[in-house]
This record gives sequence, C-alpha cells and structure tokens, in this order.
Amino acid sequence: MRIAVTGATGVVGRSAVVSLVAAGYDVVALARTPEKALLLRGLGAEPWLASLFDDEGLAGMLEGADAVCNLTTPVPVGRLALRPHAWKLHDRLRTEGARRVVEAAREARVRRVVQGSVSCLYADQGDSWVDELAPVEITCATEPMSVGESHVQDFAAGAVGGRTGVVLRFGTVIGDDASTRAIVRAARHGHAVGLGSPDGWAHVIHTDDIGPSVVAAMSVPSGVYNVGAEPVRRRDLVAAYAAAAGRDGAGFVGAVARRVGGARLEPLTRSLRVSSRRFTAQSGWAPRRPHLDGSWFVSGQPREALR
Ligand SMILES: NC(=O)c1ccc[n+]([C@@H]2O[C@H](COP(=O)([O-])OP(=O)(O)OC[C@H]3O[C@@H](n4cnc5c(N)ncnc54)[C@H](OP(=O)(O)O)[C@@H]3O)[C@@H](O)[C@H]2O)c1
Repeated sequence: MRIAVTGATGVVGRSAVVSLVAAGYDVVALARTPEKALLLRGLGAEPWLASLFDDEGLAGMLEGADAVCNLTTPVPVGRLALRPHAWKLHDRLRTEGARRVVEAAREARVRRVVQGSVSCLYADQGDSWVDELAPVEITCATEPMSVGESHVQDFAAGAVGGRTGVVLRFGTVIGDDASTRAIVRAARHGHAVGLGSPDGWAHVIHTDDIGPSVVAAMSVPSGVYNVGAEPVRRRDLVAAYAAAAGRDGAGFVGAVARRVGGARLEPLTRSLRVSSRRFTAQSGWAPRRPHLDGSWFVSGQPREALR
C-alpha cells in the first residue's frame, strides 16, 4: 500500500514516516526543500518536493496513493507562541491546508484520509473522564483544528463508494522535540512552566508513540479518536519538567503571564483527563509509554538529524 504523508518533516510526521516504513508501507513524503528531501529519503520514504499550497504538486503526490496522512503542525515554540502573528501559518495549514489535502484526495480517488488534531479542543472537564463524545470548546485558538477536522469528516460523509476519514486527537507531545526542550530549558532557568490548575489533568503523548498510532489509523473506521498516554495531574507534569531540568520544582504561570498569552494559551490550561480507550479498542494500538516518567525526557543532542 502506498501512503502519502504531509508534514513529514515535523515532529508528528517524522514519527509517522518512520513507523509506516517499518510497517512495510510505501511512503511518499512531502518535502519543501532538497535538503529535507534527502533526509526523508534517509528515513526510507520517497520524497516529493512540493508545498501544501501547490495544487499540482499535491495532486502528483497523491496519484496512486491508498491513503494520505495530513500531519502539518507548525506549532510556534517557546515565547514565539505568545505572539499572535506567529500562529498565522499554523492556522492556515490547519484550515486551508486540510481543505486542499481533502480536495486533492477526492480528485485522486484516495480512499482514506488521516488528519492529525489535538485533544485540547475539548472543554475543561475537571476530574471527569473525556471521551470522544465530550463537548468541545471552540475559540479563536481551537477553531482552526476544528475546521480541519470537519473537512475530513465531510470527506467520509459524502462518500458513495466508501471513503474513510480518521481524525487523531493527540495529547501534548513530550519527548525528543523542540517544545519539550524549550519548556525544560525554561524550567532550568527558574521560569514558571505550569499552565492551568495544579489539580487539573493534562493529556500527553510521547513522540515515539505517535508513529505507531498513525499506522494503527490505517485500519480503523471513520471517526474521531483520542490518542495519548494515561493523563497526568498538571502538578506531576510540571514536576517531571523540573526534574528533567535538574531542579527540585517549577512554578505555575501567573495571571499576568496568562493574560499576555491570551486566547492562545487558554486551551493549554484546560483540565483534560482524556481517555484513548476507543482507539485502543478499535485498532489494538496502545502506548508503549503509557505513564509519564523521567525516561520521556531526552538530554543532550536530539537523536534525529532533521531538526
Ligand atoms: N499535540 C501537540 O502537542 C503538538 C502537535 C504538533 C506539534 N507540537 C509541538 O510543536 C513543535 C513544533 O512542531 P514541528 O516541529 O512539527 O513543526 P514544524 O516542523 O515547524 O512544522 C510541521 C510540518 O509542517 C510543515 N509545513 C510548514 N509549512 C508548510 C507548507 N507551506 N506546506 C507544507 N508543509 C508545511 C513543515 O515542513 P518544513 O519542515 O518544510 O518546514 C513540517 O513538516 C514541536 O516541538 C512539537 O512537539 C505539539
């Protein structure tokens, strides 16, 4: 089977490419520069030089593909995330980008679209478990992901001959990635890194567990699925970041900083005790790292050469 992957050079896409190749799929992966193309070839994929905003390039990549995984997630990292303009590309890729991928998939008669999304779409549920039927809370920060999801749901809903649209709502990514490194660095410098209430819950996923979940998404019926490890109390998450930074503890961001972050930070403060049981029941996927611990944090040089 031939699988096309967009966002293949990002944290989510890279993990997906590695796992799809290991599972025996032929992977064609979007690269925007010859350098990235070379690196994707090194991961075992066939690189395809194009952008998500290049219709012809996208159409060519999807020719003969059985499935496409849209995993373009350029999330601004660190303090940059506090600047509203920094989210423009992110929002455009989540909305217009997702629409373009779905339209190209329809044209090329691709049967399955897998869309990466985030679990912080859900409204704060306190201590209650959050499954896929829980209410979402749409704000200017979460709307782009919701719009992206709806394109994939339309793709499946309008199908005469059986098209499948799968949305994977990932938890906060932790592991060998830029945002984990930025948070650990901030904790090392004594900055507050906690968001929300210390008693609240965070939904997390290790970078190594993302790829196998994308492989598992090749066999599930259309739908929305939560994907992550066991949720963790926010105070324990902050303690883990602090420990990774070699400190005894780290604080929670105060009201003033939260105001600066505004609507963009708010979804990250929600208490989300998210369950991935439905995805496990449908696909057999289970996180290899089900519980957050010190081994989730890598130190020293990143293992992979793409970043
Ligand atoms: N659920 C979560 O918590 C979550 C989800 C995603 C990301 N993050 C975090 O956010 C940080 C940044 O993520 P990242 O490193 O994956 O971001 P990134 O590499 O900057 O962007 C993600 C992907 O989008 C691609 N892209 C950007 N513009 C594009 C365009 N016009 N056409 C096609 N593709 C385009 C990038 O390609 P290029 O390589 O060519 O730029 C890359 O493959 C990471 O540390 C990650 O942990 C968290």
